[in-house]
Amino acid sequence: MAIPREFIDRLSQSVDIVELIGGYVTLKRAGSQYKGLCPFHSEKTPSFTVYPDSRSYYCFGCQSGGDAITFVRNIERLDYVEAVKKLATIAGMEVPEDGAFDGMTQVRRRIREANREAARFFYRQLYTPAGKDALGYFRSRGLDDKTITHFGLGWAPDGWTAMTDHLRGLGFREDELIRANLSRRSRNGGIIDVFRNRVMFPIIDLQGSVIAFGGRTMEKDHGGRKYINTGETEVYTKGHNLYGLNWAKNARSDTIVVTEGYMDVIAMWQAGFENVVASQGTAFTEEQARLLSRYAQRVILSQDGDRAGQEAIRKSIPVLRAVINDVRVLNIPENLDPDEYIKKYGPERMKRLIEGSRSELEYRLDQIRANYDVLSDDGKVKYLREVCQVLAGLSPLERDVYAARIASDLGTDKSAIIAQIAAGSKRRRAQEQRQQLRELQESISTRKEKVNPVRRDKPRGTMAEETLIYILYHNPEKAGLIRDKMPPEKMLSDFCRRLYAALLDIIQTGEAPSIAQFGQMSGPDALVLTPEEMGQAARIINAVGVTGGSGSEADIDRCVRIIEEESSRPAGDAASTATAEDLQAYLQSLNRRKD
Ligand code: UTP
Ligand code: MN
Repeated sequence: MAIPREFIDRLSQSVDIVELIGGYVTLKRAGSQYKGLCPFHSEKTPSFTVYPDSRSYYCFGCQSGGDAITFVRNIERLDYVEAVKKLATIAGMEVPEDGAFDGMTQVRRRIREANREAARFFYRQLYTPAGKDALGYFRSRGLDDKTITHFGLGWAPDGWTAMTDHLRGLGFREDELIRANLSRRSRNGGIIDVFRNRVMFPIIDLQGSVIAFGGRTMEKDHGGRKYINTGETEVYTKGHNLYGLNWAKNARSDTIVVTEGYMDVIAMWQAGFENVVASQGTAFTEEQARLLSRYAQRVILSQDGDRAGQEAIRKSIPVLRAVINDVRVLNIPENLDPDEYIKKYGPERMKRLIEGSRSELEYRLDQIRANYDVLSDDGKVKYLREVCQVLAGLSPLERDVYAARIASDLGTDKSAIIAQIAAGSKRRRAQEQRQQLRELQESISTRKEKVNPVRRDKPRGTMAEETLIYILYHNPEKAGLIRDKMPPEKMLSDFCRRLYAALLDIIQTGEAPSIAQFGQMSGPDALVLTPEEMGQAARIINAVGVTGGSGSEADIDRCVRIIEEESSRPAGDAASTATAEDLQAYLQSLNRRKD
């Protein structure tokens, strides 16, 4: 399945990694590098760095990193071959033959095709005699044909095997239909439709493929579940998707409204609001927040007025605030959802409601106020105490504005509130510093070591190995010398040994090493790094946490000596854990890069 190395090289040369990543992340130049907020984890200060020189990126915060292909894999959730194809299209290069598809890609493609055919089938059923109740159902909910077509709505017939039979007739195998979660095995061993006598809502990903369905019962008193949804499949994870984002991303708006349900998105669209998605009734995941932040500067949360909806808002706010500055909350009167509100009051009132949405902060302050009896002295004090904690996280200007507002609301003194906040923020700063230290310690000691566990037991030895790899990568002309001093089999850690051996291999063919080749290499020392391993490779070649790699013979000898010493020492031996100086140097190198 391997794609020719020459192709990967050409691809990595033609893609401008700064431009590519800049399409997803706002990057600021910092010397020869670029920095931005990491799209792979929530952060407020940038630890995500792009290195144009080595055509790679690395994040100090979450240790993700790699080349352009790894980036596309991670951000678009594609497999290797899909990412190569996507990049090739961007670079305007001839895409490699389909024979390059590996087995997994093939399976995922079949699942998507099956879903597309199923969506077509469900849509057609609406306009058959048997489907007239389903069509009537959509009509009764106020949807016109244009809307039905736009969203590809449909009806799953009331038999047991109508859809399954149809797709089999198109050449889909049982196992493919089961993997797509369109069919399932029945008790007597046959296979039957998952969705039966339900109106269908196809879920479409950002590339335009149908990847899942929601199916709603048409019965009023449905004893069972109102909606059933496609379970987890190889192409669909609920928490990674937002219903409607495939359409909303094209709306000419910097705002996206988040509702709870399929019908809310659809009713809003028909009323002229194209920038609406649905979280499908769950609290926001980090994944969904990041997805949104790529298309929206402002997010308006419009959850249902019930307890579950308010709970979802409370949980979603911090997740969204981590990546989006302007988060607002829309409270719809009378506990209506957007669909019901539009039906009752029309689009114009809806528009005004959206324009009047409160900032997330005002929403929180109101929520707190509702918890206390602010007419009593005791309630007032407790309310102020809690409110000050919230205000402590704001800029001085915002603090002043809100302190004044609250003071006049309660008939208290603004300066007292400001003083209380100041006391609180001091505590908070100290807390934050402790937290940062903990995170740093943890990132040094545990998280990274999934890729290379030896790094925890023998940090000193592993650091020497990484330094040697760094030197080799940047000084390929010294490969002969380095190999003589350190044959690959003497390396301590499996990860470094594989990387080192493969590098020597590449250099032996007369080519300059490039990180793009690590994602997929054939040959005697075949190297295929996972996206996590790519992160560590990117860290090493960009000299993050790697010390003393000038490439002088003395440096090489020092590395070799440490590796040899460490290999004869039992793991976890006190002397073999990092020396104070090593750790110090490591921290310094981290800080240096962070500036
Ligand atoms: P709601 O119960 O608020 O339904 O669930 P709704 O969107 O207003 O639906 P209609 O108007 O009665 O048709 C909100 C969302 O939660 C998910 C669906 O995505 C739904 O749109 N949900 C709800 C399920 O997945 N399963 C269920 O049984 C119920
Ligand atoms: Mn509804």
